[in-house]
Amino acid sequence: MSNKFYITTPIYYPSAKPHMGHAYSSIAADVIARFKKIQGYNVFFLTGTDEHGLKIQKAAEKEKKDPKIFCDEISKNFIDLTNILDLSNNDFIRTTEERHKATAIELWKLLDKNEQIYLSKYAGWYSISDEAYYSEDEIDEIDGKKFSKSSGSSVEWMEEESFFFKLSEWQKPLLNFYEKNPDFIMPESRKNEVVNFVTSGLKDLSISRTTFKWGIPVPNNSKHIMYVWLDALTNYISATNFFENKNKFWPADLHIIGKDILRFHAIYWPAFLMAAKLPLPKQVFGHGWILSGEEKMSKSKGNILDPIELVNDYGSDELRYYLMKEVIFGLDGTINLDNFRNTINDLANNIGNLSNRIFTILDKNYDCKIPEISSGYTINENLLINLKDFINLINKYEIHNYLKKIHTYSSMLNKYVNDNEPWNKKINSEQNIKNILYSTIIGLKNIFILLYPITPKSSISFLKNLSINREDIALDLINKEFVPNQKLSKPNILFKKY
Ligand code: ME8
Ligand code: MG
Repeated sequence: MSNKFYITTPIYYPSAKPHMGHAYSSIAADVIARFKKIQGYNVFFLTGTDEHGLKIQKAAEKEKKDPKIFCDEISKNFIDLTNILDLSNNDFIRTTEERHKATAIELWKLLDKNEQIYLSKYAGWYSISDEAYYSEDEIDEIDGKKFSKSSGSSVEWMEEESFFFKLSEWQKPLLNFYEKNPDFIMPESRKNEVVNFVTSGLKDLSISRTTFKWGIPVPNNSKHIMYVWLDALTNYISATNFFENKNKFWPADLHIIGKDILRFHAIYWPAFLMAAKLPLPKQVFGHGWILSGEEKMSKSKGNILDPIELVNDYGSDELRYYLMKEVIFGLDGTINLDNFRNTINDLANNIGNLSNRIFTILDKNYDCKIPEISSGYTINENLLINLKDFINLINKYEIHNYLKKIHTYSSMLNKYVNDNEPWNKKINSEQNIKNILYSTIIGLKNIFILLYPITPKSSISFLKNLSINREDIALDLINKEFVPNQKLSKPNILFKKY
């Protein structure tokens, strides 16, 4: 399928309610998905929940619930979150669904057929919270307790019979792959991390467990369940019905993840796929942490800004705009309520007000129609958008710079209006005023099309007044002229101030 774009978020653990970190990954993925859509791509955007493993089993036990019932309840919060955040996902996968289990089993069988799996015994450190194995040198000891250096979560000693995946055989092919595909791991700094880790040597990976039951049974040996990460990563192909060939979106064009799970996506996942002789994803982007003050936002630290509360109080566009504008995509970023309000007030001042001023004049003096321009008049050159610049920024995933550029453009449009005073009949002829208004409406149209991936609700609402329906929003409409006398309607207040 040409012109397709397949993008994913991590599938989240439904061990507790969704938090700001989950919202952040999902919003970023949605922004890229929506941009690709208005660029003309056939987009498939997937998100979901990762429901097996010891972490979930323990969380369910704590609540004295059957793990499936527990997952049904909490997974619903993540499904609701897709509506709350206004995500345009095409599917929501849960790893407890039959379509997923069948795919995971299929992948296991392929690995087995290709002689990539053997039975042995695992002895080593394991973090239930990360569902990850750590080697001795990745562990710290504090007050007699062992922790993972990278995540800070506690680890316990584990010893049991286990199937192993021959990861060590894939060191060279992985390094070759990174070299041939220098953009596979983004941003660049993360790539070095991965390359160093792989260069230092890979051990075979334990891919099954026998001491608990909450997982997908291993084919032909139901004493074992699959390691939750092998199970979870497969979601990206099960949602596309890959083995039945019903949906041709695999391979993914982009996996959006947080940097905590880079190793799984940039090492294990391509190794599994190579070993199974399946196509590899094109890119993995590991973004940074949302911090509160100096610390990672986390429930145990009690420093949480709740995404659902913020959307209730301020709106989904506002949260989306804030997170995308203020956190450099790829780096850690601090958020707080004061900064949030300042950012959305600035949006209201810079863009909301301008639209309001222009439509007030149009409504009062021009019957809310596109004014007739003088023959030969063309829109002010400074106001023409160079679309390539915006496309390049998204292609590099510099979402924050994309927004900065929209902001610069709207500041310029404000200046254009303030300098030319389309309300001032002393300095402007009637025709001049019409020309200025005409250019400004094109400018506003440009802004709201460019903003659509970030603030879809406000953009849809604004563009409707120009008779551009939601399904017709496209980058192609940028800089396009209007038919003279086209009837418009006056937008409602687009962005509130606080
Ligand atoms: O790891 N800042 O699920 P998870 C930014 N099920 N992003 C954050 C964040 C923060 N403070 N906290 C979490 C899992 N995230 C696995 C994934 S994928 C096949 C399986 C985001 O519920 C970030 O994207 O722990 C991170 O990678 C993800 O949530 C981890 O979510
Ligand atoms: Mg986690």
